[in-house]
Amino acid sequence: MTKPNPALPRHIALIMDGNGRWARSRGLPRNAGHQSGLKTLRKILRSVHHYGIDCVTVFAFSSENWRRPEQEVSLLMDLLVRGLRKHVSELHQRNVRVRFIGNRARLPNELVAQMQHSEELTCNNTGSCLNVAIDYGGQWDVAQAAAAAAKADPHGHVDAESLSRHLSLAEFPDPDLLIRTGGEKRLSNFLLWQLAYTELYFTDVFWPDFSEQHLLAALRSYAERERRFGQVTEVICDGRDKQPEASGFSVIGSGA
Ligand code: IPE
Ligand code: IPE
Ligand code: MG
Repeated sequence: MTKPNPALPRHIALIMDGNGRWARSRGLPRNAGHQSGLKTLRKILRSVHHYGIDCVTVFAFSSENWRRPEQEVSLLMDLLVRGLRKHVSELHQRNVRVRFIGNRARLPNELVAQMQHSEELTCNNTGSCLNVAIDYGGQWDVAQAAAAAAKADPHGHVDAESLSRHLSLAEFPDPDLLIRTGGEKRLSNFLLWQLAYTELYFTDVFWPDFSEQHLLAALRSYAERERRFGQVTEVICDGRDKQPEASGFSVIGSGA
């Protein structure tokens, strides 16, 4: 018989999708959905950290989102600047280290300055990590890592290990769980390399409606899965019996 995975995810990747449809269903402009989505992010980050999850990587703006109407792109950039300005001190107080991944070259100067400020302010925090992906694409990430790995090698050789050392999230464990809200079942060019063995969780809930209860449902689903990483069940169960139970399991297991 297989056993459930007793651990909480250490690292959650989050595709916060459905803001536009949330707004449309209420007869509101798309930007109202993005504003409401920011409030949801603040709330969910508090819950995530409350459950002792070390690291969250959120998709805020993809390299393909530049294809949206100019006005929406510009409102999103403004919202990112204002959101960071307003909320980074709270994250700092909660001992969260904030980092950004993605290509900064095309972003407005004001946003880049705010990103740098947030990183510098929180760089010595040790509580948990928040990585925010802005103008990020998984293909861009793999390409830049391959180029950097080739440059670092005297013969220009690249292999999976050297490439992975130059990826955006090289210092973090790969995400254990990916949550995508908004009903689409795709990765939309998020962390393509790093999600190789991540457990995927899709929900139809639009991001602004995503609540702590929805988060708990995702964590319960994760806890029930068996992660095999190419191994066979017997070997995993054998190893697991020798490990202490992860601290958060009773929180997730109860009330399922
Ligand atoms: C996600 O919500 C936010 C961003 C991509 C910035 P969407 O804006 O994609 O919302 P839908 O998918 O159109 O509902
Ligand atoms: C993915 O959502 C990007 C973010 C949430 C930032 P999209 O709404 O851009 O994805 P597609 O276009 O539906 O694949
Ligand atoms: Mg979308």
